[in-house]
Amino acid sequence: MDEQQAKQRVEELHDLLNEYNFAYFVKDDPLVPDSEYDARLKELEELEREYPSLKTMDSPSQRVGGIVLDAFNKVQHKTPMLSLGNAFNEEDLRDFDRRVRGQVGDNVAYVCELKIDGLAVNLRYENGSFQRGATRGDGETGEDITENLRTIRSLPLRLREPVSLEVRGEAFMPQRSFKALNEAKIERGEEPFANPRNAAAGSLRQLDTKMAASRNLDIFIYSIADLGELDVATQADGLDYLDNLGFKTNGNRVRCASIDDVISYVNEWMEKRASLPYDIDGIVIKVDSLVQQEELGTTVKSPRWAIAYKFPAEEVVTRLIEIELNVGRTGAVTPIALLEPVQVAGTTVQRASLHNEDLIKERDIRIGDRVIVKKAGDIIPEVVGVVESERTGEEQPFSMPTHCPECGSELVHLDEEVALRCLNPKCPAQLREGLIHFVSRHAMNIEGLGEKVITQLFHEQLIADVADLYRLTKDQLTSLERMGEKSAQNLLEAIESSKSNSLERLLFGLGIRHVGSKAARLLAEEFKTMSALQSATIEQLVSVREIGKKMAEAIVLYFDNEEVQTLLEELSSLGVNLTYTGSNRATVEDSDSFFSGKTVVLTGKLEHFTRQEAKDAIEDRGGQVTGSVSKKTDLLVAGAEAGSKLDKAESYGVTIWDEERLKEELQK
Ligand code: IVH
Repeated sequence: MDEQQAKQRVEELHDLLNEYNFAYFVKDDPLVPDSEYDARLKELEELEREYPSLKTMDSPSQRVGGIVLDAFNKVQHKTPMLSLGNAFNEEDLRDFDRRVRGQVGDNVAYVCELKIDGLAVNLRYENGSFQRGATRGDGETGEDITENLRTIRSLPLRLREPVSLEVRGEAFMPQRSFKALNEAKIERGEEPFANPRNAAAGSLRQLDTKMAASRNLDIFIYSIADLGELDVATQADGLDYLDNLGFKTNGNRVRCASIDDVISYVNEWMEKRASLPYDIDGIVIKVDSLVQQEELGTTVKSPRWAIAYKFPAEEVVTRLIEIELNVGRTGAVTPIALLEPVQVAGTTVQRASLHNEDLIKERDIRIGDRVIVKKAGDIIPEVVGVVESERTGEEQPFSMPTHCPECGSELVHLDEEVALRCLNPKCPAQLREGLIHFVSRHAMNIEGLGEKVITQLFHEQLIADVADLYRLTKDQLTSLERMGEKSAQNLLEAIESSKSNSLERLLFGLGIRHVGSKAARLLAEEFKTMSALQSATIEQLVSVREIGKKMAEAIVLYFDNEEVQTLLEELSSLGVNLTYTGSNRATVEDSDSFFSGKTVVLTGKLEHFTRQEAKDAIEDRGGQVTGSVSKKTDLLVAGAEAGSKLDKAESYGVTIWDEERLKEELQK
């Protein structure tokens, strides 16, 4: 075969393999047995080896991965990747329809599509050839994940016509791939992914493309981002056109002539969603006519011509086997529901916080009950009620104990709190939890010392307080189960290096009531040394920005305690730094979170979190949440009905996210 003949054969093999691939991965209707596909692929690979100049990036041989990147490049989107406004019930849908008809008249049709629960991506094709694929990022700029996307078999590397266009779609992990992946992870002793969405995101963020290739991802394309010269008049036609080009679109779309039909479609899929082989989290409703879409336009955040109906959080029923009590670092005793393991929103749930006795009474939750479990914001499992009709009479009402389950001290309610607290500072549960907090990432950040090792050390009575950590010897560490020489050495080094942490880490780690990591930093910056802080008066403390009276009183009370004074002396003589060095500020510089060091404003109604939950989650990741928008604001999270803060943020050019985007980032 000469080069000319090879070139022709390579072209034939491209076409053949693309057709086989399309039939198998897009249409789910294979044309040939796998062995035939493999034989043709091998033939192509051999020709490409012999004539390297015939190997192109859109060759079917280019799907196996093998490239290892250093980092993902940033990609500026040609047109911003907006998000969608949400509808949570029929009324929201009717409001949307009224708004649409108010603007473009009554002659409106909608296209309803499944809202695939994966990752939005933008794909660029030139002359029919896949050029570049990027994540959504902040909507303006995403990351170049071309090499990973190339491994998705249903993503065409070459279109059936040599057109240039940009399309958008959702990359996702089918449930079957997810199950297999997690089983393999568990087998290897690794942490499984929480849900298919995270697994898809994690896979596309791998720098080694072989990893992504092994994950069996899939993709549905749902829109043309840049119509250019294309002659397409409606969303429905656009999807058909994408089909004809060889893209995988979702076949469950329906054109609806009225909002009543839309509502029927939504209700139908609410019932049927569990039967799909991939996760959906709602339905997307789009005005069909592109002329009308144009007329309706977009707000900063989202198009006015589309809306996402979000399914209510999945609820499942399981049995409440027992209520366990957990004593936290601050002595708060929390009842925890132990459940018969059950799948909810993609993960197995067997524990859920019941928060406090009032909540248990209010929901009349009894041991042995069949209970309804859902995940708040699809993240935190919660018992929302009981199935009373399934009671047998054997169920046992629950009351909180009067004494601490760990140390036997009497439990009290402080300052009309609902929480019951154990006030014994020597309570082993509190000490253990306090130690876990002390070594945690935002406190002393001692790598290798997690909950497990601390619990072991505590049980073996090798540590009773935080000073003991600095007295540990190698022999003591290696005496622990599953602790080798090397790990023990690493641990000792991590403990040693924590001695030079700047003051704020120690302050936060000590777990003084009301003193979070941010307050610890402000205090350290202000007072510079532990002894200056120890002798500070309430007046001096409250004069520090953001330090209130309650916190000031808690600080004075803490340092008044003789045992605390002894502990600090011990820490000092063990070589632990008690001064502010400003070199390793807790929570900010060393955190790899997106929020680290960023100033964030929350506005509008949040659906998935309370304000406080969102604030805590952002601050835990090193961000700062403030009340008003200024030029210094890095990010505004706008919930429903966001008002003037949104306008202001827009005028300052502040990055704006919807709640969905926040949720996405917090799940990372
Ligand atoms: S249309 C202007 N159609 O849902 C945004 N989005 O906020 C137009 N999604 O992350 C999006 N399935 O990636 C559209 N059939 C579908 C979709 C879909 C899933 C995702 C999208 C984005 C979010 C919308």
